[in-house]
Amino acid sequence: MTAVGIDAIEIWTGKLSLDLPETFAPAKGEDPEKYTKGLGLKTSSFPDTYEDIVTMGANAAKRLMDRKGLVPEDIGRIDVATESAFDNSKPVSTYIAGCLEQVYDDDFHHANKGERKFACVAGTQSIDDAYNWIRAGRHRGRSALVVATDTALYARGDPGEATQGGGAVAMLISEEPSLVELSPEQGYGSADETDFLKPNQQFPSVDGKRSMQVYLARMREALTDFESVAWDTHPDDFAYIPFHTPFPGMVRKAGLLGYRHMIRDTEIEEDLASEIGRQPREEAFDDRESYEEAIRGYMDDLSGTDTYREWYGAAIEPTLALSRRVGNWYTGSVHVARASALQHALENDVDLEGSKLLVGSYGSGAQAEMHAETVRPGWAEEVAALTVDEQLDRRYDLSYEEYERVHDSHNHDLNDDIEAFTQPDGEFVHTGWGRMSERQYDYVE
Ligand code: COA
Repeated sequence: MTAVGIDAIEIWTGKLSLDLPETFAPAKGEDPEKYTKGLGLKTSSFPDTYEDIVTMGANAAKRLMDRKGLVPEDIGRIDVATESAFDNSKPVSTYIAGCLEQVYDDDFHHANKGERKFACVAGTQSIDDAYNWIRAGRHRGRSALVVATDTALYARGDPGEATQGGGAVAMLISEEPSLVELSPEQGYGSADETDFLKPNQQFPSVDGKRSMQVYLARMREALTDFESVAWDTHPDDFAYIPFHTPFPGMVRKAGLLGYRHMIRDTEIEEDLASEIGRQPREEAFDDRESYEEAIRGYMDDLSGTDTYREWYGAAIEPTLALSRRVGNWYTGSVHVARASALQHALENDVDLEGSKLLVGSYGSGAQAEMHAETVRPGWAEEVAALTVDEQLDRRYDLSYEEYERVHDSHNHDLNDDIEAFTQPDGEFVHTGWGRMSERQYDYVE
C-alpha cells in the first residue's frame, strides 16, 4: 500500500510574546511558579494588530509552498481547521487561497476548500479528510494543504487567560511523504460534553477543571479503541507521544495515565511491583470509590519511580518544548507537539527513521483521536528547515499594559485601533474591511 502522510510542515507564530511568570503573574498577584511548575508555561504567543487567523495561516502556507517548490496546481484541497473563525458561511480557506493568489501566477480554482470545526481536534480531522481523499484516489496526483490556525484568546479575567496563544501550522498531506506516514488504524473517544464552547461568541465559555477531566476520559477511550484495531501498546513501541497540549501540565497528567494503561500486565508492571505494588484491579474492590482511591495512590507512587521518570523524559518531555514558549494554539497544538519532538530528535542525533509516534489529539465538546505515525527517511531534512525557534526569539516582549491593549484590539466588540508593535516584512497582513464586512489582506514585501 502506498504510504500517505505528512510530507512537510511549517509553523508561523504570532509576533508578540507575553511572559507569564515575569509579566502576567505579578500583574495578577499570582505566584510565578503556578506558570512555570504548575501549568508548565513560560511565554504565550500573540498576534500583532495586523495578524489574524488568515494572515498566520497564509504565511505558514506560503512558506511551505515556497520551500517545497509548489505552485497552486499541485494543491487539490485546502482545509482550514480553526475554532477562531469570524464568519459562519465563508470559510477561512477561501481567504487564505485569496492571499496566496496575490503572490502566485496561477490560482486555486480547482482545489476543494473547506473549514473543519471540532474544537482542537479539527486539525487532526482535516488531516484525516486529506488522507481519505488520497486513499480514495480522488486527488489526481495532487496534495492537500491543511492549515490549523487559531487565536486562542479568552475574555480578560477568565481563568483561561493563563493558557492563551496564537499561531498557525501548515501541513502538506501527500503520497510517499517525507515526514511521517499515518497508520490506517485510529481510535476514537467521543461524547456529548459541555466543557468548552463558543455559542456565537468570540471568547469561550469554559469549565476548565471539567475540560481537564473530559480530556483524560476521552483520551483513555481513544487509546483502548485504537488498541482494539491496532495492537496492545507498550511504552517501548513509541519514540515520542505527542498529545494535544493546551498547556504542558495537562500532558503531564495524560502521560501518567497512558503509561499506567500501557504497562498493565507487562514485565514493567512486574518489575515495579516490589517498589510500589501491582496496579489495583477493580474486581478486588467492593465499591468504585475505594478502587479509585487506590488508583490515585498507585499513580502517585508510579509518578515517583525512576522507570516512569526516564520514560517520561524520553517520550513526553521533548514534545513540550515549543508549547512552553507558545501557549495554546488550539487546532495547531498537537502538531506543534509533534514538531517539538522531531526537533529534539534532530538536535540529539537520534536515528528516528522507521520509529513510531503515538499521536493523541483532543477537542472539547468532546472527542479524542489516537493514531500511530511512522517516521519517514526524509524527516531530518524537513525538520531542519523549520524556522520556529528564530521566529520565537524575534517576538516583541509585551508589558502587561501593552498586552491589555493588544487583547482589546483583537476583541471583535471593541476592535480598538492601536499602533502595531512590529514591522511586517515579506508577509500577508490584515488591512481592513470591505463593503460587505469581508476582511481584506495585502502582501507586504
Ligand atoms: N507552584 C506550583 N504549582 C502551582 C502553584 C504554585 N505556586 N499554583 C498553582 N499550581 C498548580 C496547581 O496545583 C495546578 O496543578 P494541578 O492541576 O496539577 O493541581 C496548576 O498549577 C494550575 O493551577 P490552578 O489553580 O488549577 O489554575 P487555574 O484555576 O488558573 O486553572 C486551567 C487552570 C487550566 C483550568 C485554566 O487556565 C483554564 O480554564 N484553561 C482553559 C481550558 C483548558 O485549557 N483546558 C484543558 C483541556 S483542553
